[in-house]
Amino acid sequence: MANLHIIDHPLVQHKISLLRDKNTGTKEFRELVSEIAMFICYEATRDLPLKEIELETPLAVAKTKIISGRKLAFIPILRAGLGMTEGVTTLVPAAKIGHIGIFRDPQTHTSVKYYSKLPEDIAERDAIIVDPMLATGNSACAAISELKSHGVKNIKFMCIICSPEGVDNVRKTHPDVDIYAGVMDEKLNDENYIVPGVGDAGDRIFGTK
Ligand code: URA
Repeated sequence: MANLHIIDHPLVQHKISLLRDKNTGTKEFRELVSEIAMFICYEATRDLPLKEIELETPLAVAKTKIISGRKLAFIPILRAGLGMTEGVTTLVPAAKIGHIGIFRDPQTHTSVKYYSKLPEDIAERDAIIVDPMLATGNSACAAISELKSHGVKNIKFMCIICSPEGVDNVRKTHPDVDIYAGVMDEKLNDENYIVPGVGDAGDRIFGTK
């Protein structure tokens, strides 16, 4: 069963409270999403393997550690996931970035992939999908399936707020994928928004409403 990691650090919790406030404007909202993404990414990368190397400091030879092994890719789900990209790439500048676009078919209510552009070597990379809101989990599941269909073996999912329904869905559909979130909210409303949530994260990041 996939693990759910809630990053309950006081700075993350404080910044999520600022996000929730309906009076928080676009500029501040965007900055907060990026900062929170950085903190959550710090935890999501905790298990990156290290190797020991030797190098010369100005004073002596040091045995010291660097990240080794498989490389990383971040995969923002369009469009709100873009708001987390700057934060996560600040921490891992060498990571490549793929994009997956998914919309909900109004007739069938299923998640439809309309865009996918992944690094050529994605099958050799570990992938962290980023999307601020894990609501129904349908987009998350579709994005995970898309990565698996390209041969990606090690996938994590990062969000800022998750719902119990979304976590259940990902856990059932993709039990091998760990979820990293800042907080789990109460429920989804009839329109599949997370309550209390932050409203429409994409609109608030890009100022489209
Ligand atoms: N997407 C959002 O932007 N907000 C929600 O509450 C749910 C999905």
